[in-house]
Amino acid sequence: MARAWIPVCAVLMLLCGSACATRDARRPNFVLIMVDDMGIGDLGCYGNNTLKTPNIDRLSEEGVRLTQHIASAPLCTPSRAGFLTGRYPIRSGMASQSKVGVYIISAASGGLPNQELTFARLAKEQGYSTALIGKWHLGLNCERHDDLCHHPSAHGFTHFYGVSMTNLRDCQPGHGSVFSHVHTHVPYGALAAGALAVALLHARGAVRVPRRAALGSLGALALAAALFCAFRGTFRELNCFLMRGGEVVEQPLVLENMTRRMTAEALHFLERNSEKPFLLFLSFLQVHTALFASADFRGRSAHGLYGDAVMEVDWSVGQVLRALDRLQLAEQTLVYLTSDQGPHLEEISERGEVHHGSSGIYKAGKSTNWEGGIRVPGLLRWPGGFPGGGREISEVTSNMDLFPTVVKLSGASVPQDREIDGRDLLPLLRGESERSEHEFLFHYCNAYLNAVRWTPRDGSAVWKVFFFSPIFHPENSSACFHTHACFCTPGYVTYHQPPLLFDLSRDPSESRPLAPDTEPAFHAVLAAVAEATERHRRGVVPVPDQLTLGHMLWKPWLQPCCSHWSRLCRCARDRQQGEPTLSQ
Ligand SMILES: *[C@@H]1O[C@H](CO)[C@@H](O)[C@H](O)[C@H]1NC(C)=O
Repeated sequence: MARAWIPVCAVLMLLCGSACATRDARRPNFVLIMVDDMGIGDLGCYGNNTLKTPNIDRLSEEGVRLTQHIASAPLCTPSRAGFLTGRYPIRSGMASQSKVGVYIISAASGGLPNQELTFARLAKEQGYSTALIGKWHLGLNCERHDDLCHHPSAHGFTHFYGVSMTNLRDCQPGHGSVFSHVHTHVPYGALAAGALAVALLHARGAVRVPRRAALGSLGALALAAALFCAFRGTFRELNCFLMRGGEVVEQPLVLENMTRRMTAEALHFLERNSEKPFLLFLSFLQVHTALFASADFRGRSAHGLYGDAVMEVDWSVGQVLRALDRLQLAEQTLVYLTSDQGPHLEEISERGEVHHGSSGIYKAGKSTNWEGGIRVPGLLRWPGGFPGGGREISEVTSNMDLFPTVVKLSGASVPQDREIDGRDLLPLLRGESERSEHEFLFHYCNAYLNAVRWTPRDGSAVWKVFFFSPIFHPENSSACFHTHACFCTPGYVTYHQPPLLFDLSRDPSESRPLAPDTEPAFHAVLAAVAEATERHRRGVVPVPDQLTLGHMLWKPWLQPCCSHWSRLCRCARDRQQGEPTLSQ
């Protein structure tokens, strides 16, 4: 009797298809949370006992905690490219060959290329409602101020509320400037000495400098200085703006209540979509500088404004978890929380306050491939999908793994026409597999292969081999204070021949490089890593570089401006759909 229903059901299902996208127990919803620059040592569930993060800890208690979760890059732009595409950023051209590895100007033409597939795009094709709330940092326009070729909507996010670029000190008056270090790169001494020498030689008749050449050079210098001042003076208006969809709705962006506003937006999205499958990427602007916290959180933590900002992010995560409970969605929603990279240790305010997080026992931080730069929190909870209960998985995993995991669960298949570097997390999460599929993991510093991690399938060692390492400044610190971030190019790094070798299973803090006389496997490990590196390099197909100078500089014709130019690109017309039910 029951059998007779099968064809009827089949027909109904066919009719329904993805158009009505009803809930399917095997296809979970996704809430993917990324906190900016947060350290693994900031969270209670990773051992912090002075900074209170009860809501994030709840995710850990009810889910799985990854202890060797690795970001695909130690900087925002490439790490996010790797996360969304499941591929090393070098494969999409999102890895810079110069010093600066991220976009700092919104009217630049580079960005995540359209041929790249994000998990959002594939899930959307499967009928998911998709939203990005918060930070993007993967480009905006290509040729016009409104073509939105790199906008989240071009990469599968139907709904967008947030910033196309990133939060920066310059976005908040009184919080200093990321450009305060630029002057350290201007060779004032050499310029002055050169000018003086030429003037002296000219006066003694040794050389003859034509008046026009002298005036021309002075003029060029003055113009450069004036342009730089104008750039600094208008930076906030031109780069710190809030978008709703493709429209700029607040320029400049007002940061203070931003975590609250993003939370409200997230809750609205969940409420609107509680009857259909959804994918929400909640990408906090915090805890990147400029730091902010709303009035309820200022002064609440024992760690200054930084700690307050972490506590507000934690509150926001709690609001999202409660909304899932209230809407009875918790069971069938996969929640993930991570940070895009380690803490930005150079972030000390002008008044000397610590504006960065903690990397716990790990060495160094953001912009380096020491563990402190790339080992990030990784929490996953899906009550209907895998056992939780505070389980810990210490196998190596990557933020690129979310790509195949989400894609498969959404009902799509993982693209076969390109290299995907992420691996499905479900076998590990379900306990069907003990070992990670990542035998080798490659750690890039911008476009340069910096280190390789090797976990031999049959052993307990976790080898890490460095081809070069950043030169810290001051020397006894573990950061690059002179340049505000560590660079990857000659003059800023030490090259190692033979490479530096560590075994993270015995020395997670990377304190003692191993040598041939202390480590019998030294040569064998280097040989295996060299071979894997060679294989990897051969598999990286050259693509157009999205972070060339030409793609990073300001192009006035790409500048979004929500008012008439004469009104200096200012507006405040963000309309949120009323306050949802937020609580403390
Ligand atoms: C907890 O986090 C704060 C803020 O980042 C940091 O100062 C402190 O050292 C951390 N504590 C531990 C035990 O890691």
